[in-house]
Amino acid sequence: MYIVILAGGSGTRFWPLSRKSTPKQLMSVFGGKSMLQRTVERVLPLDPKRVMVITNALQAAETRNQLAYIDGVPVDVIEEPVGRNTAPAIGLAASIIARFDPDGIMVVLPADHYIVDEETFRATLASARSVAVSGALVTLGITPTRPETGYGYIEAAAPADSGAAPVQRFVEKPNLERAMEFLASGRFYWNSGMFVWGACAILDQIAQHMPELSQALAKLSFESDVWEISDLKPQIADIYRGIKGESIDFGVMEKAKDVQVIPASFGWSDVGSWSALPEVMDADAAGHVVINSAGAVSVGAKECLAYGNGKVVAFVGVSDLIVVDTPDALLVCSKGAAQDVKKVVEELERQG
Ligand code: GDD
Ligand code: MG
Repeated sequence: MYIVILAGGSGTRFWPLSRKSTPKQLMSVFGGKSMLQRTVERVLPLDPKRVMVITNALQAAETRNQLAYIDGVPVDVIEEPVGRNTAPAIGLAASIIARFDPDGIMVVLPADHYIVDEETFRATLASARSVAVSGALVTLGITPTRPETGYGYIEAAAPADSGAAPVQRFVEKPNLERAMEFLASGRFYWNSGMFVWGACAILDQIAQHMPELSQALAKLSFESDVWEISDLKPQIADIYRGIKGESIDFGVMEKAKDVQVIPASFGWSDVGSWSALPEVMDADAAGHVVINSAGAVSVGAKECLAYGNGKVVAFVGVSDLIVVDTPDALLVCSKGAAQDVKKVVEELERQG
């Protein structure tokens, strides 16, 4: 199996810690390893043939640095000249795999997710693989716990009694009203953004539903039989010049026929913003999550989050507050407004 890691996002909701050159997946919020490094380490026991990490030009050098220590499995860092969302990145990886191994199965993983039970995660990927060999597109579905509008939803056509269920439909990022209906119906899963399929199966679907992308990818030619990604750089630049941005969710998943969902129960968060960190990190007695600080004092305060820049943090009479202190920027935000941090980045860009 081939592991394809999507690592080209910008994660603006983690400003001021995440910047264009060090987005969420390259940050080590949890101390030590970055989310990308954890993503790679998590799949190594599956003994993949290769790990392919697809990122953009701005992040490529840091991505290579961070993965230089991995040995035993070849790691390719594939550089996109510009981000064109997930469909082109997946199509590119699939084209390379299909050229060298037409029966190759690929596991597509976002680089920036948090997973609690790694053993169960790997077992789920192994069963997804056994479904994907029949030609189906397999997606891992998470049982929803709230009407989240930041996720895609998958409706199962039948209960997934034997592990997998056919997908009735796929709805990317519904509005709140629809998300509430989906949650109440009990038939929907969150799309985890993790997929398992044959390289040729996804290329067929891209050809059917995204013909322009398919034609652009067909320009990829391989001079030798040796897997050498750096030779492809000029061709990739050429392909990306002509294509438009589209996610695999809109481009393929909403339209494809033979999609199967495997319900996943390994504990998952896409850690979409600062307010998601308390879901995945231990809190102190007052419910505060304090990262990267020399200690915390709480006086009549509860459930705050601080990223401390090495200092002692004191919370007095406040609750549900997020404070992120970096050398050149300070964020003070209420937990309920954490999604709006991306607007800070937009505003700063506007101000130049
Ligand atoms: N290489 C590359 N190039 N990677 C990209 C690009 C790109 O242009 N754009 C995004 N990515 C990577 C991100 O780094 C992330 O790891 C992954 O692809 C998904 O992109 P997001 O931008 O984080 O997507 P999303 O969170 O809005 O939505 C997706 O994930 C949700 C679960 O987290 C969808 O698949 C939803 O349906 C899903 O629920
Ligand atoms: Mg995401």
